[in-house]
Amino acid sequence: MKRIAIFASGAGSNAAKIIEYFSTRNTIEVAVIVCNKPDAGVLKIAADHDIPTILIGKETFFRGDAYVAELKSLNIDFIVLAGFLWKIPQQLIAAYPNKMINIHPALLPKYGGKGMYGNKVHETVIANKEKESGITIHFVNEHFDEGEHIFQATCSIDETDDAATLAAKIHLLEHEHFPKVIESVVDEKN
Ligand code: GRF
Repeated sequence: MKRIAIFASGAGSNAAKIIEYFSTRNTIEVAVIVCNKPDAGVLKIAADHDIPTILIGKETFFRGDAYVAELKSLNIDFIVLAGFLWKIPQQLIAAYPNKMINIHPALLPKYGGKGMYGNKVHETVIANKEKESGITIHFVNEHFDEGEHIFQATCSIDETDDAATLAAKIHLLEHEHFPKVIESVVDEKN
């Protein structure tokens, strides 16, 4: 059984799907949820599933040990970023080489980088009259959204779509694919 940490700071719908998926399998255990926002929806999801949480602060994350000691003491094997917006410090990347992945709600390398998150991504994609968008799951390196790609899935954009309807399509793709991709990457890398 491998132990994963999910880093999330939003509603946590991806975290919920990942938790549900692995609750019926004996390959992976979601051992902890790491969050930087005290009022994030993902904390309620963690509580509902009896999963411990770490509420992190900027000082330790960026100027301390980036919670490496705490994650290691919890025997965390792999880190999954699911709607986590802070840049990952080099120290944490070095502690989990090729053992940290992120999901991005667009087809990278387009529509990524600093500031490209949440509705901003979908609004920009729509404004550019793209015919399709999708999701990218990738390894995390020291540059925002630039690590090696692992998986992409696409959806079409209709003329009637706006940022909200596109976001809903993207969430469906994320929920369908992210748990399975995590399972296969953790299996290969461990
Ligand atoms: C997802 O769209 C993910 O791609 C992005 O943040 C969003 C998180 O949504 N990085 P949720 O909190 O899992 O509902």
